[in-house]
Amino acid sequence: MAISKAIIVFPLLCFLSSTISILCYPYPLVCNETEKHALLSFKHALFDPAHNISSWSAQENCCGWNGVHCHNITGRVVYLNFFNFGLVGKLSASLLKLEFLNYLNLGWNDFGGTPIPSFIGFIQSLTYLDLSFASFGGLIPPQLGNLSNLLHLRLGGADSSYEPRLYVENLRWISHLSSLKLLFMSEVDLHQEGQWIESTSILSSLSMLLLEDCELDNMSPSLEYVNFTSLTVLSLYGNHFSHEIPNWLSNLTTSLLKLDLRDNSLKGHIPITILELRYLNILYLSRNQLTGQIPEYLGQLKHLEALSLRYNSFDGPIPSSLGNLSSLRSLYLYGNRLNGTLPSSLWLLSNLEDLEIGNNSLVDTISEVHFNELSKLKYLDMSSTSFTFKVNSNWVPSFELEELLMSSCQMGPKFPTWLQTQTSLRNLDISKSGIVDIAPTWFWKWASHIEWIYLSDNQISGDLSGVWLNNTIIYLNSNCFTGLLPAVSPNVTVLNMANNSFSGPISHFLCQKLKGRSKLEALDLSNNDLSGELPLCWKSWQSLTHVNLGNNNFSGKIPDSISSLFSLKALHLQNNGLSGSIPSSLRGCTSLGLLDLSGNKLLGNVPNWIGELSALKVLCLRSNKFIAEIPSQICQLSSLIVLDVSDNELSGIIPRCLNNFSLMAAIETPDDLFTDLDHSNYELEGLVLTTVGRELEYKGILKYVRMVDLSSNNFSGSIPTELSQLFGLRFLNVSKNHLMGRIPKKIGRMTSLLSLDLSTNHLSGEIPQSLADLTFLNRLNLSCNQFWGRIPLSTQLQSFDAFSYIGNAQLCGVPLTKNCTEDDESQGMDTIDENEEGSEMRWFYISMGLGFIVGFWGVCGALLFKKSWRHAYFQFLYDIRDWVYVAVAIRLNWFRDNLRRLLVSETYH
Ligand SMILES: *[C@@H]1O[C@H](CO)[C@@H](O)[C@H](O)[C@H]1NC(C)=O
Ligand SMILES: *[C@@H]1O[C@H](CO)[C@@H](O)[C@H](O)[C@H]1NC(C)=O
Ligand SMILES: *[C@@H]1O[C@H](CO)[C@@H](O)[C@H](O)[C@H]1NC(C)=O
Ligand SMILES: *[C@@H]1O[C@H](CO)[C@@H](O)[C@H](O)[C@H]1NC(C)=O
Ligand SMILES: *[C@@H]1O[C@H](CO)[C@@H](O)[C@H](O)[C@H]1NC(C)=O
Ligand SMILES: *[C@@H]1O[C@H](CO)[C@@H](O)[C@H](O)[C@H]1NC(C)=O
Ligand SMILES: *[C@@H]1O[C@H](CO)[C@@H](O)[C@H](O)[C@H]1NC(C)=O
Ligand SMILES: *[C@@H]1O[C@H](CO)[C@@H](O)[C@H](O)[C@H]1NC(C)=O
Repeated sequence: MAISKAIIVFPLLCFLSSTISILCYPYPLVCNETEKHALLSFKHALFDPAHNISSWSAQENCCGWNGVHCHNITGRVVYLNFFNFGLVGKLSASLLKLEFLNYLNLGWNDFGGTPIPSFIGFIQSLTYLDLSFASFGGLIPPQLGNLSNLLHLRLGGADSSYEPRLYVENLRWISHLSSLKLLFMSEVDLHQEGQWIESTSILSSLSMLLLEDCELDNMSPSLEYVNFTSLTVLSLYGNHFSHEIPNWLSNLTTSLLKLDLRDNSLKGHIPITILELRYLNILYLSRNQLTGQIPEYLGQLKHLEALSLRYNSFDGPIPSSLGNLSSLRSLYLYGNRLNGTLPSSLWLLSNLEDLEIGNNSLVDTISEVHFNELSKLKYLDMSSTSFTFKVNSNWVPSFELEELLMSSCQMGPKFPTWLQTQTSLRNLDISKSGIVDIAPTWFWKWASHIEWIYLSDNQISGDLSGVWLNNTIIYLNSNCFTGLLPAVSPNVTVLNMANNSFSGPISHFLCQKLKGRSKLEALDLSNNDLSGELPLCWKSWQSLTHVNLGNNNFSGKIPDSISSLFSLKALHLQNNGLSGSIPSSLRGCTSLGLLDLSGNKLLGNVPNWIGELSALKVLCLRSNKFIAEIPSQICQLSSLIVLDVSDNELSGIIPRCLNNFSLMAAIETPDDLFTDLDHSNYELEGLVLTTVGRELEYKGILKYVRMVDLSSNNFSGSIPTELSQLFGLRFLNVSKNHLMGRIPKKIGRMTSLLSLDLSTNHLSGEIPQSLADLTFLNRLNLSCNQFWGRIPLSTQLQSFDAFSYIGNAQLCGVPLTKNCTEDDESQGMDTIDENEEGSEMRWFYISMGLGFIVGFWGVCGALLFKKSWRHAYFQFLYDIRDWVYVAVAIRLNWFRDNLRRLLVSETYH
């Protein structure tokens, strides 16, 4: 340490007294040639994109090179600091020639995932070694244990792009570093080392031990005694400890100042032995599974300045003893189950800067007197509690807040005028706070310096026609704002004004003169009374990725110029009066992941080019006037999870290729499914869908929806068997079309189905037994078709009520009131049908078909005797009708050879 300090001070001295050069260089400091060449070799093995060492030249004295310092008397290289030089490549072993090197810092460079070279363990003069955040990977060489002079060792640091990450087999070599004061190995995989405490606690000088995110799973809670005699900082956050807080921590009695155990899975209570840590300044236990009450005795840790217990399961009241912690600056209790009222002593913590007690079951009425002592408060979070905040309208608080989070905390009904006194505020969240009032005239000007502002879900009113908004993130949604849309600064990135009563044209907003290039990414104006045509001024808003103009009264065409939004990911224009066709320019929006055009008057074809929007996950064209066939190019949308074209005038057959929707074919939902679709600071993408017979809003959970809705169109032909390969599909609705044929027998493999609606078609045949395999099905509608026979017996299919089956005159059995007669029984047929293509029954069909053509009467005799054959035959007649006509028209031989293939590919399986 002393040496490195001197080395920092030394050049400073030189700088100050540069005129008296003799002071700095009493002896000419000429670097040793051997060392110069060693450094040049080191340089040659590296790529230096930032030109930090490119000026090193053989002609110059290496003691003056960037990053190099020599000893002031011997002229030997003692100090190499390449911290954050952006060097890329490989470490040269020439460093070994630097016999007197004691400081080596290679942190924040990029060694491309290569292992730490073991020769570093032989630079025995080193006292300081920093190889952290330098993209080393693989096994840490145990030779580092030879560096017996080392005081300071830093390895690891996140660099997720390289595999394998750094790891150790054991840490026994550490115990040789007997002078070590600081050990940083965060992000190194230590899970193979069960004895890490034994190996490190031997180091009697160790003062800082930082093993964060190291995959450690055990703090040996049963150890009686641990010999960390000098430890001041112990940071073990982000490991996997799932036991109680170990008692041995109390052996660090007088030394420990900072204990950080965040982000583990620690259980149990805070033990009373923690009181032994009597000089503790900082105690971080957040994000564990600690339970019980916050103990009164914590109030005895008089030196505490920061206490974080957020995101645990503490219950009971906040202990009044916390009021004794007079040095406390930060108190974080967010996200527990604390209840009761706040202890009055809390309001005496005059050093408090951060007070975070939100998301608990606390109840209290808080008035201005409470804050009298808290003049240093900067951050106040009381959100999601049952506090009532009652202060005078002329209150001038003693504090100057930077962040105020009061969401779901009763502040209203009057608008909090005291906010006007807070001129340093960066973030303001007073959403859902019961304000029923007009936003005062000073408010918008005052708010123009705030970065994030959330006023959502109140009943704040006011005409924003002349207002200029200058915040990065603005949520005014679900209030009572009126007037024309406000103007915005180019710095706004998220603007949510949904669910208000804004009126007038949007051109007023979109064609406003901006003082610079707009950064707006998310614009939500849905559920207002905006009207008029969509203007052409999209060019100024090219950073937009999320646009929601739904549920307004817009009319006219969707302008071609909307394609200026080439980064668009989600476009909602639903429930307006838009007409015309889908503009072909939209094919340029190749990032589009969600397109909702439902509830307009759009007409024309569903364009072929829709298949080019390869990022499309959600396509909703419901309730328009689209005609003709769905282009088969739609099947190129392999990421599609929602296809809703219901309530249009589409016709033709259902494309056979829907099984190309590979995300619908998969059972699992990839975790990152919506990461490119959702905006990090805007609400999660969602939309309204009719999945189970009524409209539901899917927000946040949209990525779990898998839906195909083709209902209320004029589709004909059969249900493609390929559809039954969409094993992940949850909602399938093809009702109200002209579909014929049978239910695909393999429908039972669509085991994710929650809702199946085939009603009001001309579907026929028996209900396949496999339908009973759909164990998650909770809505089934087969009504108004021509199904016949017995409803298969299963716990599943009988649990639906009769409405699921009515309107099929020949269907019988529970839950219908019609009892099955002998004639309806046809078990035999169904079991044979379950077989694959080569089943007897199908050959029967085919021979029957031929029979029909060759000589109808020839087979009728047989039919009179065999009941199941009769059923099969009539069903066959129904299915085969079209084919018969075709077949008669063309050559009979062709028919004989191909009928089976056609039946198989077109009607079944
Ligand atoms: C320079 O360094 C080399 C290798 O460390 C050493 O053998 C040599 O004596 C040194 N030369 C001088 C002039 O100190
Ligand atoms: C040389 O550096 C040492 C520390 O490394 C310092 O104690 C000493 O005073 C310095 N000598 C001169 C002449 O600057
Ligand atoms: C703890 O460390 C001290 C100082 O290094 C040593 O004297 C003592 O024996 C150690 N005790 C145990 C139990 O390891
Ligand atoms: C170490 O901690 C344990 C558990 O709290 C305690 O029983 C033991 O007396 C302590 N030993 C010393 C030397 O502090
Ligand atoms: C707080 O919660 C505990 C247990 O959850 C309960 O026993 C106690 O009555 C609650 N106290 C108050 C004031 O609601
Ligand atoms: C708008 O906000 C920025 C910070 O986001 C600030 O620097 C600027 O002064 C503000 N402009 C006005 C007129 O308030
Ligand atoms: C946008 O923000 C920058 C920096 O935050 C600020 O300097 C600038 O004045 C802001 N622009 C406007 C129009 O307020
Ligand atoms: C149907 O059968 C049940 C018992 O098998 C009988 O109680 C019921 O009356 C029958 N219903 C009709 C409409 O025949």
